[in-house]
Amino acid sequence: MKQDQNERLTATAAGTPMGELLRCHWQPIAGVDELNQRSTKAVRILGEDLTLYRDLSGNLGLIDRQCPHRRADMTFGYVEACGLRCSYHGWLFDRDGSILEQPWEETVNPNRREPVRIKAYPVREMAGLIWAYLGQGQPPELPCWEPFTWKNGFVQVVISHVPCNWLQAQENSIDPIHFEWMHANWTIRLRGEKGPYAPRHQKIDFREFDYGFTYNRIREDTDENNPLWTVGRVCLWPNAVFTGDHFEFRVPVDDENMLSIGWFFVRVPHEKEPFVQERIPTWYGPLKDEATGEWITSHVMNQDFIAWIGQGAIADRSKENLRSSDRGIGMLRRQLLRDLEAVARGEDPKGIIRDPERAKCVPLPVIDRKMVIDGIPLAEFITPKRRHMRKFIFQYGQPEHVRQAQEAALGVEVEIGSYLQIDEGGRMASGPSKTK
Ligand code: FES
Ligand SMILES: [Fe+2]
Repeated sequence: MKQDQNERLTATAAGTPMGELLRCHWQPIAGVDELNQRSTKAVRILGEDLTLYRDLSGNLGLIDRQCPHRRADMTFGYVEACGLRCSYHGWLFDRDGSILEQPWEETVNPNRREPVRIKAYPVREMAGLIWAYLGQGQPPELPCWEPFTWKNGFVQVVISHVPCNWLQAQENSIDPIHFEWMHANWTIRLRGEKGPYAPRHQKIDFREFDYGFTYNRIREDTDENNPLWTVGRVCLWPNAVFTGDHFEFRVPVDDENMLSIGWFFVRVPHEKEPFVQERIPTWYGPLKDEATGEWITSHVMNQDFIAWIGQGAIADRSKENLRSSDRGIGMLRRQLLRDLEAVARGEDPKGIIRDPERAKCVPLPVIDRKMVIDGIPLAEFITPKRRHMRKFIFQYGQPEHVRQAQEAALGVEVEIGSYLQIDEGGRMASGPSKTK
């Protein structure tokens, strides 16, 4: 790939081709839970510094970080019944960016109001996440992905700040082979064992659908009937992955940083139904060990982060040597380039939904659909095969209060632990069983 093409795919500021493409889609920017604890939050998304808030009437707003008066930080403003007031001289802004009050000016010049606005973007909440639309024109529908409608599950949102370009993460969404080496085999080595290594990949495939691609695999221990081949995992368009029980969104902070925003679902056992979650917790996962400064390698996503960051702040794709394992990467890049052309023509890119009916519940390929919909009895839940459901293996740092909430929801002990402790025969090593 040429340097200029690499830049075209990785630059995210407003006015850049990819910046405009990503702005065509609603992006998750925070957990709803975060604004339950405080009323404002500074966010930096797609190179824009913004203030997210919930006013006293419960309405969300997303406005410029800096006040248009004399540039004070709106994150230190205070919320009113309607809107956010700058704490420096009291200017009050509505969530559409219009000004509601300029106290001193109104006292001295009650009949004159100089027009002024603050930049503002639409925000919505769904599935414990806050979503923003930073694009121009009429926002498309915010898709309610099917898993957001699932019942009887314990959900948690996990956010990490990852210092690299978003595309490195997204290319990982369509890279089946890395699982064998970066997760399965590296984990064996991290445990201090020299082997045996995990079953090898025998066959991979990539299939396009309306909202992305699936990647499908057969390994030495699975065959064509395995859902990893028949259903696959989802490279969700344009900047997420969906594995069957969780989403990871890769949201650019700027060109050299991104937020990994994960949404994780664990189905409670039959004995705990009906389960209705009052509050979806959000927590922040660290990348480095506080005491040693070393990268954390014990959890699946922490391993991924190390790969992406290692590729450089913005990977130099002119120096790559792509091979047949990277067929999906090529498909993803070509589709992104087609999308850039569509946006330049003023058309909707792939994956945009304008039909409200369609957006209400958007089905996705789900590997273990029967389990997440129908659930399983406690007797099965506590078997070794389901051990990954009784601990949080994806990211290091689950806070104790979240572990306890998960434990209360599931009605079984939730172990503190990591992917390193998942047994060789466990689901994460060999994929779901062929019981469907
Ligand atoms: S800087 Fe915000 S009101 Fe003056
Ligand atoms: Fe991975």
